[in-house]
Amino acid sequence: MSVRLVILLVHCLLGTGLAMQCKEVSGRLKQIDAGVGQVFGVSENDEIYTLYGGTWTRLPGALMHVTVGPSGVWGVSSNNNIYKLVGANWVQVPGLLKQVDAGGDQFISGVNMVDDVFCLLREHTVGYKGVGSPTPWTGIPGKLIYYSCGPNGCWGVNKSHEIFVRKGVFPAACLGNTDWQLVAGKLVMIEVGTDGSVYGVNAVGDVFRRDGISACEPVGTDWTFLSECGKSKHVSFDLGHLWVIAVDDRIRDCVV
Ligand SMILES: *[C@@H]1O[C@H](CO)[C@@H](O)[C@H](O)[C@H]1NC(C)=O
Repeated sequence: MSVRLVILLVHCLLGTGLAMQCKEVSGRLKQIDAGVGQVFGVSENDEIYTLYGGTWTRLPGALMHVTVGPSGVWGVSSNNNIYKLVGANWVQVPGLLKQVDAGGDQFISGVNMVDDVFCLLREHTVGYKGVGSPTPWTGIPGKLIYYSCGPNGCWGVNKSHEIFVRKGVFPAACLGNTDWQLVAGKLVMIEVGTDGSVYGVNAVGDVFRRDGISACEPVGTDWTFLSECGKSKHVSFDLGHLWVIAVDDRIRDCVV
């Protein structure tokens, strides 16, 4: 037993890249999203949870993907319906998506079942309160499996795991004013924090951070591999915490 433990430790220490300091959080989730100081996640069977004082509190309903950000708490169900938390209840939003992101400057972005890309302007997100609120989704040319926005632009990955940035994206013009810019590397998911930082996971479960991002250089300069013990499938960053979901759904709260 002790021999096995030593071998595991050596394996972890041998990892290259920047080592993360992580602490395990109780529970199991398949997806997590952190924003504006809050943390939401969904379990393997689509139960919805939020973290308060170190305890997961279950919300009503069922979602396969949840997001929290400047425009509120949004999610999508397994049949691709979209919901927003209004008065602490899930209210349906017209449209169909498989992934949604509330990290933009009060606008929403996401992709649908056939990888079409959409966003919804701030004037339609913040005040959305159910039936009667208009939801003119803006279609964005291109095909992506994951799309996430922040103050310096939006990042996405396509089915081939190629990475793209969209610049000139504003709350009142979420389409952006440039075409997609291809970025070196391959990832299966990518998340932009409310502060503009970018983190992603590749097909073999390694976590990366994009460095050198600024308002002047939204694309940044390079990727830093963040080493940890074990493989990951999902990450989300907010206010100094990188929330990491391992391939076995274990949850870690990491400092890079
Ligand atoms: C992903 O992007 C690359 C680079 O633009 C492109 O060659 C490839 O066809 C795209 N794959 C899919 C499945 O859209």
